[in-house]
Amino acid sequence: MNSPARIVVLVSGAGTNLQALLDACTESSYGARVVAVGADRDDIEGLARADRAGVPTFVAKVGDYTSREHWDRALGDKVGAFEPDLVVSAGFMKLLSADFLERFLTLNTHPALCPAFPGMHGPRDALEHGVKVTGATLFVVDAGVDTGPIVAQVPVTVEEDDDVASLHERIKTAERAMLVDAVGRIARDGLAVEGRRVRIGAGPR
Ligand code: GRF
Repeated sequence: MNSPARIVVLVSGAGTNLQALLDACTESSYGARVVAVGADRDDIEGLARADRAGVPTFVAKVGDYTSREHWDRALGDKVGAFEPDLVVSAGFMKLLSADFLERFLTLNTHPALCPAFPGMHGPRDALEHGVKVTGATLFVVDAGVDTGPIVAQVPVTVEEDDDVASLHERIKTAERAMLVDAVGRIARDGLAVEGRRVRIGAGPR
């Protein structure tokens, strides 16, 4: 059997998606292991979750570097030190450079059904638009904002009395289950990306 896939998770906040992955990885049959958690800021619950799970952490703050390029390279080096098979950006609030993305297969979760409502305010924008169904998307990060090839999606119904917070909470519940399911299947069965078409189950890594 293959050794578990090595995953580095990048976070900027609460880290509930990270927690879902950490919990899933406690089962050896899941096929993956979170080998490190990185952040662009200190004092966030995401880093505390990693500490509690005994997973190494690192922080790279943009302000500590002379340029965005230096930051990006430093982040890449910190991630690279853990030799990940996969990087998961889970609520990480920074765009990653082409160099970083060339170096690491990187997935991101977005709380909307791409290509609808990209950017920082997916749940708010969906609510304001009046859609009846929104959801979450897991995609391979590319140079755009929430534009990459889609790995998995999950629908969430918008309720009449939803506000942004209640809608985002329901999306996050669905998002975590989707993330855990897809990352596990990728870890066990591989991932093939051909243009915009993504297939999980392309054979073991
Ligand atoms: C998620 O909904 C993610 O898609 C969005 O921010 C949220 C992060 O949640 N970008 P958490 O930090 O994993 O709890």
